[in-house]
Amino acid sequence: MSLTNKPIGIFDSGIGGLTVASAIRKVLPNETLIYFGDTAHMPYGDKSAEAIKYYSLKIGKFLQQMDCKTIVIACNTASSLGYQDVKDFLGDKLPVMNVIDPVVDFISRQKKYNQIGVIGTKATIKSAIYQRKLLAAVPDLVVKSLATPLLAPMIEEGFYENKISKTIIDSYLSSPKLKNIEALILACTHYPLIQNEINQYYGSKIDIINTTEIVANDVKMQLQEKGLLNLGKKGKDQFFVSDKTSSFENSTRIFFGNKINLQQKNLWI
Ligand code: DGL
Repeated sequence: MSLTNKPIGIFDSGIGGLTVASAIRKVLPNETLIYFGDTAHMPYGDKSAEAIKYYSLKIGKFLQQMDCKTIVIACNTASSLGYQDVKDFLGDKLPVMNVIDPVVDFISRQKKYNQIGVIGTKATIKSAIYQRKLLAAVPDLVVKSLATPLLAPMIEEGFYENKISKTIIDSYLSSPKLKNIEALILACTHYPLIQNEINQYYGSKIDIINTTEIVANDVKMQLQEKGLLNLGKKGKDQFFVSDKTSSFENSTRIFFGNKINLQQKNLWI
């Protein structure tokens, strides 16, 4: 197999990263995807930095063994805490991408915000990585962050675009911590599914930054620059999870657009 024909490896703590995989599939329809969702250990948002680093590295090694030409960490929490380790360990063998740097580049290119909000899991917000990277790129930007840990499980359980999701979203977004923002970064794989509700909360008065499209376009650009785009025949996509249940399989539809068959692959035995 030539290098360009090899698959793109994508991983997440669970099935939420399928929103990123779906965006990549849209902009790169000719690429073969191998997805790994660590459903046995999700949610990562409540885990320690050590655990997230350990899981990320193990999955990164699996995707390398599966002969992937690149690894995309399609999880904000793993990108916040596991990216550096995966890059340090595998970066000389294949390009490793995360979901944060493309968003920081996008914001710094926009040059239009003075105050920006970030919502994500507890671990992502605690890491303060968006704050650090955004301030390094745009020093006078005011970054306001809020952990919104109920949102991912709420969406996964199918609670969106209903009364319950509206109440929870309103309660989080009315926090004084997010006052006067001009844009809000959806720093979690699940949040594209509630983008409309968030937009409604703000009455379309602020920009809602859906990171999946930005990341997918960046993956395309990076593969192009590195001469890694697949010009040959597309192979078969594969979707692995570390713990398979029918509920995970059924939920794939909401994140990917259509239901997909998950294969169980336990990396921890
Ligand atoms: N995939 C995670 C993220 O994007 C959210 C779910 C979790 O906590 O594992 O941060």
